[in-house]
Amino acid sequence: MESSSLQKGMTFLNTIIENNKKSWDIVAKHFAGGDALPSYGPLAQTEEELNLIGSVAGKTVLEVGFGSGHSLLYMNKNGAKELWGVDFSSAQMDLAQKTLYGIEVSLFTAPMEEEIGLPKNYFDLVYSIYAIGWSSDLPATFKLVYSYLKEGGEFIFSWEHPFYNQIKCRDHQFSLTDSYQREGHIETTTFKGEDAPMQIPKYKMATFINALLKAGFELVEIIESDIPVHAKGEEIPYSEKYYSLHKASNFPTTFIVKARKRTI
Ligand SMILES: C[S@@+](CC[C@H](N)C(=O)[O-])C[C@H]1O[C@@H](n2cnc3c(N)ncnc32)[C@H](O)[C@@H]1O
Repeated sequence: MESSSLQKGMTFLNTIIENNKKSWDIVAKHFAGGDALPSYGPLAQTEEELNLIGSVAGKTVLEVGFGSGHSLLYMNKNGAKELWGVDFSSAQMDLAQKTLYGIEVSLFTAPMEEEIGLPKNYFDLVYSIYAIGWSSDLPATFKLVYSYLKEGGEFIFSWEHPFYNQIKCRDHQFSLTDSYQREGHIETTTFKGEDAPMQIPKYKMATFINALLKAGFELVEIIESDIPVHAKGEEIPYSEKYYSLHKASNFPTTFIVKARKRTI
């Protein structure tokens, strides 16, 4: 890419990040612990069921998009040694500081796409629950995450399955509401009922996977969620809601990736 078009591309992404940050400051209050470990996502199996992270006792961990701080609290309760986090919303920072009151933690207000001088080759685990897909620059974000990890360190994240928001159920039929092929951004004028316009990145599954591979990760496991085990034996009622057991038992709400920094 020529330098002028590269610059234009960067300005475009920076504007998206800046605008989304303003909107996240407005909607932060709606996310107090909703997307936090042990949950990986709505109507998906939990860490207790999947055991992807396993023991964190004595580990140094970093959360990307720490939100209200509830996943960091989970890490603290499970014996993690050092807690770090990055999130671009100052409203989330305020909430997280309240959640983590009295606990030693290093939190930073910054976009995940940006180099802010976090330590390199330092973390045993970098994780992210329903935040990574907000990255407007997946290659830059994954490259940074890779640089933060020790050799053999793990990166575990969950995000909405790229199919889920394009499937709707009406009159007992599932249909596709948008092109899966088209990537870019979905623009919303409101979010969580607030006057908070967002530009939500839209990526295909292969884009996530290829960006991870390009950053140098080896893939350990990919999970397309299913409904939690306790719901399996129950009769599942018909529903046309965005989140329902009916929809989630037919299409995964969430995908979860476990990747590892190679040992050389
Ligand atoms: C659904 S919340 C995550 C909740 C979190 N897992 C918890 O335990 O509370 C998504 C978070 O991603 C953050 N976020 C969105 N885009 C971001 C970006 N580009 N850089 C850093 N943080 C971002 C938002 O501010 C928000 O706190």
